[in-house]
Amino acid sequence: MQTFDIDPDIRLARALPPSVYGDPEVFARQRERVFARSWQWCPEAATVPRDGDAAPFTLLPGCLDEPLVATRASGVVRALSNVCTHRGHPVVACPANAASLRCRYHGRRFGHDGRFLSMPEFAGAADFPSADDDLAAVPLERWGPLDFVSLRPAAPLRAVLAQIDARVGSLGLDRLVRDPSTDRDYAFDASWMLYCDNYLEGLHIPFVHPALNDAIGYDDYRTELAPWGTLQLAFARDADDVAFALPPGHPDGGARVAAFYAWVFPNLMLNFYPWGLSLNAVQPVGPARTRVLFRAFTWDPALRAGGAGAGLDRVELEDEAVVVASQQGMRALLAKRGRYSPTKETGVHHFHRLLAAAHA
Ligand code: FES
Ligand SMILES: [Fe+2]
Repeated sequence: MQTFDIDPDIRLARALPPSVYGDPEVFARQRERVFARSWQWCPEAATVPRDGDAAPFTLLPGCLDEPLVATRASGVVRALSNVCTHRGHPVVACPANAASLRCRYHGRRFGHDGRFLSMPEFAGAADFPSADDDLAAVPLERWGPLDFVSLRPAAPLRAVLAQIDARVGSLGLDRLVRDPSTDRDYAFDASWMLYCDNYLEGLHIPFVHPALNDAIGYDDYRTELAPWGTLQLAFARDADDVAFALPPGHPDGGARVAAFYAWVFPNLMLNFYPWGLSLNAVQPVGPARTRVLFRAFTWDPALRAGGAGAGLDRVELEDEAVVVASQQGMRALLAKRGRYSPTKETGVHHFHRLLAAAHA
């Protein structure tokens, strides 16, 4: 099993070994060490609006592959294991509204809170039912318009999002409205880590995204580190470029912020623009195969045509092209561990340190 050290001093550090990108053993280990411990965006929690609703889903398909079911009872939305505690059959096969959840294999019934209710032919079983016969409940929490679940959280969601919340929490997250009209799913042949590496630095912007570069100021582009993520700030270049109207008392008050790019370890990107939020959920589906879901939540759709938050589809394809080409390079026998720009790649260095700690 590969381990890797990343020097805490960015001026001395070498980046991840090239073979880590695309290694099946690394990928398998990350399933438990990285993804099971992280908070994952859970849009399915919004699909059970009525008491008695139950909607099955797979958490992070292709990576965690965990069968879960979103349920609602007495107004409380939960995420439960969708694996029957008798012999492992899925409990809920398709979205339904019913008084209880019934496994179709041998008829075991559960409440929408996961509690065991009944089971045929178990009259003589000792110590039955016990808590082990209930469906496991998975922590489910909400921040603004977003629901999150975690199988084995390494830290509370509040702590994970604290620094991000301090910057964007006052912008009116509860007023964001989901807009499915621009949903896009992208898939490409590269490790999810290369995709995140690319997201976490602005160094490539002048080279790869000429149009975006025209809308933001490269020199004052800034990266801030948080225990479980990063925050990148882009500032409007010209007086007529779109910028946030920040509320009084905001830490960036007086600055013309064009975008807050928040990254939540390991695989969630929350890009806040004056028009709203572009959420990028990065889904590893194989050691060198990645799917990225783009989902939008808007404050003011009319602002979408200009500034840093315009042309996101073009920017994405520009990013994919360089990431896929770099994945090819990482396979080369002569590939070397790279170095970090001390001024522009602090976010990438931070990501690699978090990964190394999770793998240790
Ligand atoms: S597997 Fe569900 S009742 Fe037997
Ligand atoms: Fe980019």
